[in-house]
Amino acid sequence: MSPSQALMPGESTEGFIANGYFWDLRADSLEQQALEPIRNQIEMRGERFTEQQILPEIVNRLSGIPEYVDMFNHAFPAEIISADNISQEHIAKALAAFQREIFSPNSRFDEFIAGNDAALTSQEITGLNKFINGGCARCHSGPLLADNVLREDQIVTNFEAVRTPSLRNISKTAPYMHLGDSSTLNNAIGLYEDRGDLQVTMEDDDVGDLAAFLRSLDSDNFYQEIPTRVPSGLKVGGEI
Ligand code: HEC
Repeated sequence: MSPSQALMPGESTEGFIANGYFWDLRADSLEQQALEPIRNQIEMRGERFTEQQILPEIVNRLSGIPEYVDMFNHAFPAEIISADNISQEHIAKALAAFQREIFSPNSRFDEFIAGNDAALTSQEITGLNKFINGGCARCHSGPLLADNVLREDQIVTNFEAVRTPSLRNISKTAPYMHLGDSSTLNNAIGLYEDRGDLQVTMEDDDVGDLAAFLRSLDSDNFYQEIPTRVPSGLKVGGEI
């Protein structure tokens, strides 16, 4: 099956390809993805360092903090890691390993798909039916509720072609759309009104049911803990 063929929720995922990270799919692996926010000026790099300088700088900083050197040793037991040999690769692998732990298989929607009809309320089931019959599942399909296809011909927000994003844990990941200009879930869903060009039928009255269904995709083990301290001693939290 090619990634552009939509899967309906619950349909077999065999052969389904969901690779490609970032809105334009520019990273092929989690390891490749992991270092990009550090390099990106508006995400983490800021203006003091160039794109070429920033990763060596981060390697230096981490190497200078004994607690991190210990943690890298613990994470890579087959190697002997000292302040002299922490590499960008170690950082990418460590971040990717952490990200692989963030998975969300235990939503009420998953229970429903597994056969527990009582897992969803009647409003959520109405929303699920609207999601399928209204055309949302054509793009938001498969286990991630995303076919991960770049939408070049059918642009959802009037800016650029972006890939279909996952809708798992969506109630916890505001703001929405790639510019973050939709601050609430209802507002994001509302953008689909009068979008017959996307082969979607959705009216104002449907927003509440669709939002109820999308909230059933929330998973209890979605990672939300923010540590109280980090080994660098930097202030944790900020604007996140
Ligand atoms: C033509 C494919 C397509 C269809 C059909 C579609 N979507 Fe989307 N959806 C996308 C793409 C692509 C984006 C990302 C747009 C952006 O970032 O600007 C998106 C974004 C979203 C988001 C915001 C996700 C986020 O993390 O920011 C929500 C919520 C959403 N869609 C819900 C729906 C609902 C509900 C329907 C049906 C009414 C629907 N979509 C139909 C492709 C589609």
